Amino acid sequence: MVDTHCHIFSSDYNNIDDVIKRAIDNGVRMIIVNGCDAKTNNEVLELVKKYDIVYGALGIHPEEVDNYKDEDIDFIIKHIDDDKIVAVGEIGLDYHYDYDKKKQIMLFKRQLEIAKSFNKPVIIHSRDSIQDTYNILKEYNVKGIMHCFSGSLEMASEFIKLGFLLGIGGIVTFKNSKKILDVLKEISIEYIVLETDSPYLAPEPNRGKQNEPAYIGLIAKKIADIKGITYEEVNSITTSNVSRLFDKQLMI
Ligand code: NI
Repeated sequence: MVDTHCHIFSSDYNNIDDVIKRAIDNGVRMIIVNGCDAKTNNEVLELVKKYDIVYGALGIHPEEVDNYKDEDIDFIIKHIDDDKIVAVGEIGLDYHYDYDKKKQIMLFKRQLEIAKSFNKPVIIHSRDSIQDTYNILKEYNVKGIMHCFSGSLEMASEFIKLGFLLGIGGIVTFKNSKKILDVLKEISIEYIVLETDSPYLAPEPNRGKQNEPAYIGLIAKKIADIKGITYEEVNSITTSNVSRLFDKQLMI
């Protein structure tokens, strides 16, 4: 199994060695840690060196739009082709809070330029902003993952047409998840990847606790139930979806 999206950083976890060990013990073969700002992008570089199963994405999250500096973008450019750095992320648009939309769009586009010029996939955060996110991604002709996808079936199909996979996480195990379950039923498993978004959004029965990659099997199991296929099929197909997207020599 692959956890395509998590943030296992020192600010949230006292013992990352144990987090990685529990992930391996629970069948996780690859973890993509997503940076969000200068500090966490730096930690991503350390984590990919330290742990075989960890790969990284570098990016400035839209919530950092008022905090980031030009040198933080230069850092991404400098390291985006490092060993085991597989994507630009977590990047995108978040209209849920009052961050300036124009500034967010500028930051998003700057990072999409990086992805395009280095030919890297992107890992996208989109909250209350799906139409703008779609319009911008369409301009850039990049592929990637729609992290924590929560849009309609129609939008899911449009993102898939652009070359995106849908990241599905703990929300599918929650009681009020009808919208995403309806999307999941209709979308082929060929376009689905697993993610935990640790430390957030722990799947049931761990909802409300600190999440970690070891819980990814709970999400795979729920998807298997919804799709009427086996747990093993979910694991093998979502893993090959990841290999197909990243199109490079991964350990999986
Ligand atoms: Ni995230």
